[in-house]
Amino acid sequence: MAKSSSKKQKATSSDLKNQSSSKPPKKVVSTSPESGEAGLEDLFLDSVKDIYWAENHLVKNIPKMEKAAASEELQKAFADHLEITKTHVARLEQVFELLGEKKQAQKCDAMEGLAIEGEGIIENTIAGSAARDTGLIMAAQKVEHYEIATYGGLATLAKTIGRDDIAGILAETLSEEKEADALLTSIAESM
Ligand SMILES: [Fe+2]
Ligand SMILES: [Fe+2]
Repeated sequence: MAKSSSKKQKATSSDLKNQSSSKPPKKVVSTSPESGEAGLEDLFLDSVKDIYWAENHLVKNIPKMEKAAASEELQKAFADHLEITKTHVARLEQVFELLGEKKQAQKCDAMEGLAIEGEGIIENTIAGSAARDTGLIMAAQKVEHYEIATYGGLATLAKTIGRDDIAGILAETLSEEKEADALLTSIAESM
């Protein structure tokens, strides 16, 4: 108990350090009627930079999950989702282009945390065990749910700021994340 609370405190102080040094301050979203739309556009762009970092991080991490999995079905699911994730990266680059912005990644703390959690499962389980595969599926589903929440919100926000073209691109990715989540559920059920 004491150990985990000191861990938490550590993370908080390093977060503060990051904010004050390397990280640019988060933009304040205006709620005034005159500048409200500009605030939403900034929020949208910031969120695209976040998920762009997250998808790139996944391209590096999914192969570790694939290597750690014992079930062939699960290995294949990771291998297939790696290719799909590369498409998600490419779609976000298309979004930057449509926005007339340079592609840019902004560190996503949530995805970094989820990836660390996945690595923890690999460290704390025996290779080839059912516990490891089950843990990997749970970790992967947390990632998919984070992506589903992000793309769902971004697609709605794109429509709000009048970019139905971009909303359509994001909706394609959203439906692929939902498919990946459903596949992981069916693998877990069959195990
Ligand atoms: Fe993705
Ligand atoms: Fe995904």
